[in-house]
Amino acid sequence: MTRHFLRDDDLTPAEQRQVLELALRLKAERFAERPLAGPRAVAILFDKPTLRTQLSFTVGVAELGGHPMVVDGNLAQIGVRESVEDTAGVLGRQVAAVVWRTFHQSRLETMARHAGVPVVNALTDQFHPCQALADLLTIAEHAGGLDALRGRTLAYVGDGANNMAHSYLLAGATAGMHVRVGTPTSRRPDADVVDRAATVAAGTGGSVTVLHDAAAAVSGAHAVATDTWVSMGDATGAAEAEQLFGPFRLDAALLGRAEPDAVVLHCMPAYRGKEIAAEVIDGPRSVVFDEAENRLHVQKAVLTWLLERS
Ligand code: CP
Repeated sequence: MTRHFLRDDDLTPAEQRQVLELALRLKAERFAERPLAGPRAVAILFDKPTLRTQLSFTVGVAELGGHPMVVDGNLAQIGVRESVEDTAGVLGRQVAAVVWRTFHQSRLETMARHAGVPVVNALTDQFHPCQALADLLTIAEHAGGLDALRGRTLAYVGDGANNMAHSYLLAGATAGMHVRVGTPTSRRPDADVVDRAATVAAGTGGSVTVLHDAAAAVSGAHAVATDTWVSMGDATGAAEAEQLFGPFRLDAALLGRAEPDAVVLHCMPAYRGKEIAAEVIDGPRSVVFDEAENRLHVQKAVLTWLLERS
């Protein structure tokens, strides 16, 4: 059976742990795994802008011995020039895996059904699971190891309806963390995702909570994360975003509610003075560049893990 990584809960708690352990090993020994030796190609498709994801998948596929084929979505026009199904059928005959950043999750699911090779979510409107895995690895590194994830509190403040909120809920629950989302009432996460994360958390000893008060969400947290107030493709204007999310800005006062050694996460690109204060993202508790680097290590682990099982 071909395995895919389309959303965070595609990995069981035990599988997520295996991938994170492999990521740590690949971080220590960059060229320890060569599943793409040949070189076999990986199609890396982008229907939305990117820096970190293109960089980390391109470097990662090369380090795994493969050939990264980066395709600008404007060129391929998947779903316009030809269907997702036909695109998947063509790609699957020639590449070892498909990595895709696109719009609705259903496009990715269609790709996975028809490609015949592992498909990896490089961000959709609903989920960003590679980023959440990198964030878990980063929290663990700063907390003393993977065992330290279980029971820790991860607070996310900002847009609760975006892909990062959804991925933090699912990935954090899978890791046995207590995940809190602090967001305006009009931007609650998808109810299905909250329910699914609660079910996962019931089996791992974690929990999920959605709050509408930023201070309550961050109080006593071991890791505090935020994200841009206006996600790619979101029509929310700057003034509207400021009014809606201003009370959830991650500034020094809000961070002061967290544990004294709490780490600060942001998947970047970041907008200083908007969702995060410069003194916080550029301050001593910020681990955002570790987080960006860890995209490389977790994605190499995901690809290696999927290829071994498919
Ligand atoms: N965090 C993240 O996915 O970055 P890019 O949008 O630059 O790829």
